[in-house]
Amino acid sequence: TFLDKKGRSITLRPEGTAPIVRAVIEHKLYNLYNPLKLFYIENMFRYERPQKGRMREFWQIGVEAIGQDNPLIDAEIILLLNTIFKNIGFTNLKLLINSVGCKVCRKEYVKIFKDKLKKDFEYLCDDCKERYEKNPLRIFDCKIENCKNIIKSVPSIYDFLCNNCKAHFLEVRNYLGLFNLKYEIKHELVRGFDYYTRTIFEIISKDLASVQNALGGGGRYDNLIEQFGGPPIPAVGFAIGLDRTIILIKQLGLDLNVSEKNDKKILIAILDKKFEPFSLEILLTLRSFNIIADISYGKKSIESHIKNAQKGVFSHIVFVGENEFNNKVINIKDIKNFSQFSIDWSLDKIKIKEILDKMLI
Ligand code: HAM
Repeated sequence: TFLDKKGRSITLRPEGTAPIVRAVIEHKLYNLYNPLKLFYIENMFRYERPQKGRMREFWQIGVEAIGQDNPLIDAEIILLLNTIFKNIGFTNLKLLINSVGCKVCRKEYVKIFKDKLKKDFEYLCDDCKERYEKNPLRIFDCKIENCKNIIKSVPSIYDFLCNNCKAHFLEVRNYLGLFNLKYEIKHELVRGFDYYTRTIFEIISKDLASVQNALGGGGRYDNLIEQFGGPPIPAVGFAIGLDRTIILIKQLGLDLNVSEKNDKKILIAILDKKFEPFSLEILLTLRSFNIIADISYGKKSIESHIKNAQKGVFSHIVFVGENEFNNKVINIKDIKNFSQFSIDWSLDKIKIKEILDKMLI
């Protein structure tokens, strides 16, 4: 924030989540579709000490999913972040996750945290003294050796999560397991924004210089929309640092394969929570064939799933219920005329792809 030549206060945007939330509330975008899935590729500005991979103007690719607190979305978002880097060809990656709790359990924890640090307050660096008042958990981020040592004696938020937050985190981890994603739980991970609740995550590259090694990160922000004056709507998202990604692509000499565009969009309607893992498998297989696919979250009736498909401009819909699950046969219905074809999902993936290529024209 600075004054321009006419003395007007100008603020450059440091990130995309808060502006997206503002736009979503102002235009009631949450009525369009649930979860509302948005992305942006924009330049951001931060008043930081410039160094390689850390600029005052940099670019982000951001993704936000607004409207659901289902842990499956957290896992899906994390998977997307990981898949983007994997498809680029990065290998030496590490996925870090943590939960920072909700407004109830975190409040309790911050009290305990501050209490524990009180006796060492005078030994903290000047920045951490300020953090102690404004955003105490950011002390975990301090790179100064003395502060790092002091913070070691403080219990992590993980031990203070309420039962709901614990269960939510456990489900996120289960889904990451289903996706075969390797992760490390890093209790000291807090990330730089106050708006985060529950799941937070970061992907670092071991091929990048150690300090600026975060390629992207994000998390849940279940209270932000309400805090900005909107309805209580949960959300989760991430941003990728594009400059760092490009530095790494060049460093590793990678060639990017740009895949063909596809106008077929399949919506997977889950008729009961117990079919979520099977539905996920379908989702991921379709996406691996470069077919745009998504899950219809939080809807109960067939009609509401179909409405969702129409709203989201899907070309096809797949219902996953008792029959499909037991027989491992799925029916892909055309959303316009409800003509359909069946696929035996126990077939070889290559066979499935052949059928889809032939039928989805
Ligand atoms: P962030 O972790 O501050 O998150 O930024 C995301 C990524 O942007 C970082 O991992 C890093 O790669 C890149 N980045 C950040 N600062 C710089 C810089 N000064 N120079 C170059 N690259 C940088 C966010 O911004 C959140 N809005 C992400 C999010 C979306 N959370 C929920 N939804």
